[in-house]
Amino acid sequence: MQAWQSEFLQGRSIHFLGILPGASRVIAVCSLTNIIRGPFQACNMGYGVDQHYEGRGVMKTLCGHVVAYAFDVLKLNRVMANYMPDNHRSAALLRNLDFTIEGTAKRYLLINGCWEDHVLSARINIKKD
Ligand SMILES: CC(C)(COP(=O)(O)OP(=O)(O)OC[C@H]1O[C@@H](n2cnc3c(N)ncnc32)[C@H](O)[C@@H]1OP(=O)(O)O)[C@@H](O)C(=O)NCCC(=O)NCCS
Repeated sequence: MQAWQSEFLQGRSIHFLGILPGASRVIAVCSLTNIIRGPFQACNMGYGVDQHYEGRGVMKTLCGHVVAYAFDVLKLNRVMANYMPDNHRSAALLRNLDFTIEGTAKRYLLINGCWEDHVLSARINIKKD
C-alpha cells in the first residue's frame, strides 16, 4: 500500500478497488501502471476479479470506469493491456472494452520462472487532440 501511495503521488500509477455496495471486501482490482508522460502519454492496465465474482460483468464495469478516468482525467492518449494467448476471459474482456489487438510479443514477461508470449492490445483516446 505504501508503494501504491508513493507511485500515485509521483503520478506513476493508480489502483482502483471494486467493493460490493454494503460490503467491506475488495472483489476486484484494476490498475494503471507505468504512466508515461512526454510524447507517449500512455500506461498499462492490469486487472483481476475474485473467482466467485467472475462472469458477472464486474470487471468490465470497473475497467470501463478506469479507462474513462485514464482518458478524461489523466488525459492519456493510450491505455495498453496485454495477456497470455490462452487467457480467453482476458481477451473477451478487452474486446468488450473496445481494445484493439496490435500484435504478439514473444517471451514478453517472466511469469513463475517462464518467459511467456503475450498478445498486445491497446485502446486509443479518440477524443484527444
Ligand atoms: C480476466 C478476468 C478479469 C475476466 O473477468 P470476467 O468476470 O470474465 O470479465 P467481465 O467482467 O467482462 O465479465 C464477463 C462475463 O460476465 C457476463 N455478464 C453478466 N452480466 C454482465 C453485465 N451486466 N455486463 C457485462 N457482462 C456481464 C458476461 O456474459 C460474461 O460471461 P461469460 O464469461 O460467461 O461469457 C478474470 O477472469 C480474472 O480475474 N482472471 C484472473 C486474473 C487475470 O487473468 N488477469 C488478467 C491478466 S492479463
